[in-house]
Amino acid sequence: KENKLWGGRFTGTTDPLMNLYNSSISYDSKMYKEDLEGTRIYTQGLCKLNLITESELKAIDHGLTEIEKEWSSKTFVIVENDEDIHTANERRLGEIIGKEISGKVHTGRSRNDQVATDMRLYCRNILNTQLIPYLKDLIEGIVGRAEQEIDVLMPGYTHLQRAQPIRWSHWLSSYATYFTEDLERLVQISERLNKSPLGAGALAGHPYNIDRDFLAKGLGFDEVIGNSLVAVSDRDFVVEIMFWGSLFMNHISRFAEDLIIYSTAEFGFVQLADAYSTGSSLMPQKKNPDSLELLRGKSGRIFGNMAGFMMSLKGIPSTYNKDMQEDKEPLFDSLTTIEHSILIATGVITTLKINKENMFKSLTMDMLATDLADYLVKKNVPFRETHHISGECVALAENLKLSGIDKLSLEQFKKIDHRFNEDVFEVFDFEQSVEQRRAVGGTAKNAVLTQLSNLKNKLK
Ligand code: ARG
Repeated sequence: KENKLWGGRFTGTTDPLMNLYNSSISYDSKMYKEDLEGTRIYTQGLCKLNLITESELKAIDHGLTEIEKEWSSKTFVIVENDEDIHTANERRLGEIIGKEISGKVHTGRSRNDQVATDMRLYCRNILNTQLIPYLKDLIEGIVGRAEQEIDVLMPGYTHLQRAQPIRWSHWLSSYATYFTEDLERLVQISERLNKSPLGAGALAGHPYNIDRDFLAKGLGFDEVIGNSLVAVSDRDFVVEIMFWGSLFMNHISRFAEDLIIYSTAEFGFVQLADAYSTGSSLMPQKKNPDSLELLRGKSGRIFGNMAGFMMSLKGIPSTYNKDMQEDKEPLFDSLTTIEHSILIATGVITTLKINKENMFKSLTMDMLATDLADYLVKKNVPFRETHHISGECVALAENLKLSGIDKLSLEQFKKIDHRFNEDVFEVFDFEQSVEQRRAVGGTAKNAVLTQLSNLKNKLK
């Protein structure tokens, strides 16, 4: 007979490939700490019910501590039939303290409420100790850079065509704004998932009226999940994290794409640090922005993880089904990939060099055509009309092969519209154009500095 935790009713053996197919220990052992902590608190709950004695509880506690030492020193030996982290830990507990006692820890508990508990604890920990603080560092890095380089001007683009001059810091601040929204969302998710499934049993509830509030409190959960069927089979928090990751990586991908474009020789706005670039095995001159390309590329994989698991979930009947074990690999992959992506993005943006001369040189006078239209608006001409007039100036300068609209003479301006005056030439100043846009959210210096200080306040 096979030595399996659930083997009582079985007479035949499991197909070897089925064992492999069924097993999750290779990836769920990541949650060993959470699993042990869950058992520690759960057995305290059993002790309150007099289902285990104080001295048994002591032995269990000791055994769990020993097992934790083995995992953290990488000496834990996984044996055949250790199907998942739950069975492995329970098997080992029996070896250390004897099956007489270890055989009691699962009373009233199922791996269904156990795994749901482990997963929530694991996610909470990764969010609170890694993703959230790392994301704050990224935002801080971007904001700090934006404050320092507030005077640098560059072209702003729509359709990737030169549109209007903006501050480089305004561009930086735009991504800091996206990432701050991402941060707020992530904090909400970490709060929402912090509910306890423990004590829900396999699905129907606990047979000995365990104190679920006590279990929740002991594990740092804010509340108990109020329906046992939901407790064991809700994986919405997994989906939410993966959705969050997809949206976040979407922002990361666009951020990376901008920088890839800005780092080409054709643009020459930024230069990546060697630390985040790689070379070519064939072309000696190459310095490639692989870090940025990977940030862009990995976003697809994060999206795929989410889509794949949602497909797995959508047809499952009520409560626990083994399909749910498929939550782990995509989730863990997403968490690690996102963690690394945040750290790489932070490294890239805080170490890259900018070439402000190139940025400034890329500003062209036609980018002030809107400002030229606004000049006449101030002389009380309707904007629709001034838009047309300014367009004519652009066309004339082009026809005359002038280097820009600022090279038209006053006579030529006046010929197009008599309301142009000597002061029209004051329009052709990029700094002035940028400073016009001082309404909230605009690219004027004070407007950008206000954005940055608001973002910093949100980090507190
Ligand atoms: N390894 C399983 C998982 O990750 C644990 C739960 C198993 N429950 C069960 N009824 N077979 O989902």
